[in-house]
Amino acid sequence: MLQTQQVRLVPCAEKHVALLAELGASTFEEAFSQTHPAKDLQQYIQETYQLEAIKGNLKKSNVQYAVAYFDFQDAGYVKLIKDSNIDGLIGKALELEKIYVRSQFKGKKVGAALMQYVINEAVKNGYSWLSLGVWQENKTAIAFYEKFGFKTISTRKFKLGQTECDDFIMVKDLRN
Ligand SMILES: CC(C)(COP(=O)(O)OP(=O)(O)OC[C@H]1O[C@@H](n2cnc3c(N)ncnc32)[C@H](O)[C@@H]1OP(=O)(O)O)[C@@H](O)C(=O)NCCC(=O)NCCS
Repeated sequence: MLQTQQVRLVPCAEKHVALLAELGASTFEEAFSQTHPAKDLQQYIQETYQLEAIKGNLKKSNVQYAVAYFDFQDAGYVKLIKDSNIDGLIGKALELEKIYVRSQFKGKKVGAALMQYVINEAVKNGYSWLSLGVWQENKTAIAFYEKFGFKTISTRKFKLGQTECDDFIMVKDLRN
């Protein structure tokens, strides 16, 4: 457990299924409802954040979630994928698959606490890299990642509902 002044990080177990489903769906909708068609969002949310999907993910040995509590209220979360494969990188990469903070908690260092937790986990477990994919138009998130030392190394396609989006692949070097 990592605790900053007001933010507490809790690694997730099965008892967090309902929270992760609600937190995942509502933060995804908040992040993309202004920029993506409602139909695509609904399809993605239905596929990704239903209870059974989260339950299945929690059972996978290569998946890890953690929730951030700000003043005892659930405020954001991360989803990590262990041992992800990134072309051209030498050494193990931990994928930061999702990092989301509820709107009312943005700007209160919840994202920073989540990112610090992820960096600590990666270093503790001998990873050389953190990796992630981010929609190329998500300037807020890209600025946040750059602040933490991530650099763009390539691109990929990401399917959101029926729409193909262009993502950047960004990595953070943890070797020094
Ligand atoms: C990106 C996100 C996780 C950042 O979380 P947050 O709690 O708002 O960020 P924090 O308050 O912890 O800010 C940490 C640092 O990043 C900086 N930062 C945050 N947003 C920023 C932005 N839009 N531009 C530049 N810097 C930014 C802060 O200024 C702060 O720097 P400081 O310590 O020097 O003051 C949050 O905005 C979010 O959930 N966005 C929507 C979901 C999303 O897009 N997720 C990524 C999908 S790939």
